[in-house]
Amino acid sequence: MSKNILVTGGCGFIGSHIVDCLVKKKFNVTILDLILPKRKDVKFIKGSILNKPLVDKSLKNIDFVFHLAAVSDVNKVKNIPSKTIETNIIGTTNLLEAARKKKIKKFIFASSYYSYGDAGNLYTTSKTASELVIKNYNLLFGIEYTIIRYSTAYGPRNRNVDAISIFVDRALKNLNLIILGDGNQKRNYVHVEDLAKGSMIALNKKSKNKTLTLTSKKSIKIISLAKIILNLAKSKSKIIFNKKRKRFDDFTSSDKYFIKKKDLFGWKPKYNLKTGLKQYIKMFS
Ligand SMILES: NC(=O)c1ccc[n+]([C@@H]2O[C@H](COP(=O)([O-])OP(=O)(O)OC[C@H]3O[C@@H](n4cnc5c(N)ncnc54)[C@H](O)[C@@H]3O)[C@@H](O)[C@H]2O)c1
Repeated sequence: MSKNILVTGGCGFIGSHIVDCLVKKKFNVTILDLILPKRKDVKFIKGSILNKPLVDKSLKNIDFVFHLAAVSDVNKVKNIPSKTIETNIIGTTNLLEAARKKKIKKFIFASSYYSYGDAGNLYTTSKTASELVIKNYNLLFGIEYTIIRYSTAYGPRNRNVDAISIFVDRALKNLNLIILGDGNQKRNYVHVEDLAKGSMIALNKKSKNKTLTLTSKKSIKIISLAKIILNLAKSKSKIIFNKKRKRFDDFTSSDKYFIKKKDLFGWKPKYNLKTGLKQYIKMFS
């Protein structure tokens, strides 16, 4: 019998691609989200993970939970610190409580590779704290989990907040690309369709109670990223540095975060950065 999967945040950027993968794999998908879904062939529950009775109801007859609903924009956190803590940590706890009562088979959590470093302030704290809460629920109540630490996603349906979507948008309009800081900060990007496919690893029994990291093989300096985008978009834009506006706790990726091959269970990203960027830029031309 096909498994029933609840995807919280299934109407968002990464969540909507995960829903696509799950539907393709013939799972019965239910989404719990504040906003409307991208597709109509899944069950949809409109509401918040902070609404405990609704969360309880949403987990009825569910086998697996993919938990992605969150305050996801690290730049917004400064304006909504307590909402970030509430949504990301208490929201996760509400789901775990319901999962405990309903005896769900597995809890899959969208964490971040920011959890490896000190940057990202309350956003990172909310992810790391949630990871600990999930591990404690496993210890106390035996709820199986897989935590997936994502690097930065890019591609279709993005939130227009990552450097790739902002740079591509400006490059195609021949507007200058503004880099905060000196451009030497590194990021690791994975195409969102690859991240979604990679997330299916969490359905594999071998990923039980593991923390996996989904990244691409190489991180890239923001200055190099800007140059590649200008080239691929055949743009007349220039690169402008705003060194004064460097983020005080900016994240810089390190190669030590890369996923271990033994934990990939055969996952191979379809796109490298260049082919992924080409595909993304082509969407607008
Ligand atoms: N995008 C990335 O590069 C990235 C990297 C690492 C980790 N993550 C994590 O992956 C998850 C998904 O990220 P995304 O980029 O798709 O973000 P997103 O903002 O596009 O999606 C989040 C979804 O959660 C929903 N949501 C927010 N608060 C909710 C609430 N209280 N109740 C129910 N739904 C709620 C939103 O409506 C949205 O549809 C997040 O947990 C994020 O922290 C994202």
